[in-house]
Amino acid sequence: MPSIVTREFTIDDYDGATALWNEVEGVEVAEGDAEEDIRTYLLRNPGLSRVAEENGRIVGAVLCGHDGRRAWIYHLAVAHTHRGRGIANRLLQECVTKLRGTGVKRAIILVAGDNTSGRSFWLRHGWEEIPGAFPMGLDL
Ligand SMILES: CC(C)(COP(=O)(O)OP(=O)(O)OC[C@H]1O[C@@H](n2cnc3c(N)ncnc32)[C@H](O)[C@@H]1OP(=O)(O)O)[C@@H](O)C(=O)NCCC(=O)NCCS
Repeated sequence: MPSIVTREFTIDDYDGATALWNEVEGVEVAEGDAEEDIRTYLLRNPGLSRVAEENGRIVGAVLCGHDGRRAWIYHLAVAHTHRGRGIANRLLQECVTKLRGTGVKRAIILVAGDNTSGRSFWLRHGWEEIPGAFPMGLDL
């Protein structure tokens, strides 16, 4: 059985990760996700974003970074063919361990309102809802 390797997300993983994000439910490839944007993001947050790879194919991916005060995790996804094998758990633990090393005290995620499965995944992993907070945004 081929083994799954988890490692740092590099810009060479962009096409594979984008293909994965486009194929799964609950992740929206949006502004900030163009190749140059992701390159900049990875350079600003070295070593924090992760991929899972099997035989050269990206089967899991997550973006992770921080601004010095809060950490943010985006686009956690695992291919349908590889779910239920602990890959998301592995990627997430790697992110959290590395974030702890940065000294940042709190991490935030945004879950799409209709992503009930994603929401239950985060709740199961100890993430808490933020009552009274309304996500807001502005296109720059
Ligand atoms: C959510 C997702 C990343 C889980 O990936 P996965 O590799 O199958 O998850 P794992 O096998 O690592 O599961 C780890 C644990 O979470 C549990 N789990 C997995 N998916 C779950 C879900 N949707 N709800 C609740 N628990 C879940 C597993 O049972 C396992 O529990 P255990 O450690 O007690 O055995 C995957 O289903 C996915 O890509 N979903 C679509 C994208 C998405 O919604 N991402 C989140 C965006 S906010």
